[in-house]
Amino acid sequence: MLRRLHQEQPESFAFTPDNKAWAEAQVTKFPDGRQASAIIPLLWRAQEQEGWLTRPAIEHVADMLDMDYIRALEVATFYFMFHLQPVGSVAHIQVCGTTSCMICGAEDLVGVCREKIAANPHELSEDGKFSWEEVECLGACANAPMAQIGKDYYEDLTADRLGDIIDALAGGRVPEPGPQNGRYASEPETGLTSLKDFESGRTKFNASVALAMQLGDTVKRIDGSEGPLLTPWREKGANHDPSAPEIAAPTPPARTDSPKAGQAPAAAESSGETTPKPAPEKMGDKEEAGPGPGKRPAVLDAPREGGADDLKMIKGIGPKLENLLNSMGFFHYDQIAGWSADEIAWVDENLTGFKGRVTRDNWVKQAGRLAAGDETEFSKRAKRDDIY
Ligand code: FES
Repeated sequence: MLRRLHQEQPESFAFTPDNKAWAEAQVTKFPDGRQASAIIPLLWRAQEQEGWLTRPAIEHVADMLDMDYIRALEVATFYFMFHLQPVGSVAHIQVCGTTSCMICGAEDLVGVCREKIAANPHELSEDGKFSWEEVECLGACANAPMAQIGKDYYEDLTADRLGDIIDALAGGRVPEPGPQNGRYASEPETGLTSLKDFESGRTKFNASVALAMQLGDTVKRIDGSEGPLLTPWREKGANHDPSAPEIAAPTPPARTDSPKAGQAPAAAESSGETTPKPAPEKMGDKEEAGPGPGKRPAVLDAPREGGADDLKMIKGIGPKLENLLNSMGFFHYDQIAGWSADEIAWVDENLTGFKGRVTRDNWVKQAGRLAAGDETEFSKRAKRDDIY
């Protein structure tokens, strides 16, 4: 398939300050002389910023990485993930047209795109909201035919279903990604023939769909609001910028003393509630505080009477993160709602494997509404769709 730069190009490109800081930090992941290895994430970030990959953006990234322009162009023109022409403001639909999908009905899906979006690939719809193209195998052949829309896969599609999805997106809704015919994942359509025990214990969605539902960013572009720049690898290595703030290894939070069985902590006796107490600086060898940024929030040793809040009602928190938060001593919306900027920084840094999520998804604001008994858009959707 021919992949060429668009005939109309902007004059110039520059990363936003946030994206520039992010891009420069990505480069430090690689040893001296290997900075070109950062080409894909940098091109991707440029595309997320602009919506498509312009020639000035490709050249800007090549300059940042001290690469010949042709080398950067080779990468940009090779991968379908890079859009070399303007795409729809709501969604760009990439229909797989390779063997399995073609056999199972990809041509019908292309027909829907021609009818609903534009007659030709890479043309914008009249309202500018959509564009489409046919791409090579996207690796979901067992769920053919399928299409990638934004960042997620819609599988086991029919022409009618794709039409409905486009209509929903046009109406500002984002349909559940994943199999669209009732299949859980890529098991046989006639049902499981082995590992049948798996069926009874599974969650509502397969892991990919559950994460997509949790993130809710199927057609959202990265816009710099995702959270602070995290560069834990800069602690060591030749590329460490001494002017950059040091980031300490994750440190487990100290815990308050456990209340005795059936007894609320002394400070809460009058109210009947367990009141968070400031965590001590040091609670023993294993829990010694590290020099991480921010300030450790108060924690609880156990949920209050009545049980823990369902932290998964906060957008960005799934079952794993909820377990992690509980293990750190956070069980309730009002605990999270009360975090100061320093405390957010500490938690963000110490969420091993999920760094930066507090800020990225604005947990404090969401938790404040939930603690007040309100609903958020996400909590409504999570309850309605029974995501977990
Ligand atoms: S053939 Fe369509 S995903 Fe592989």
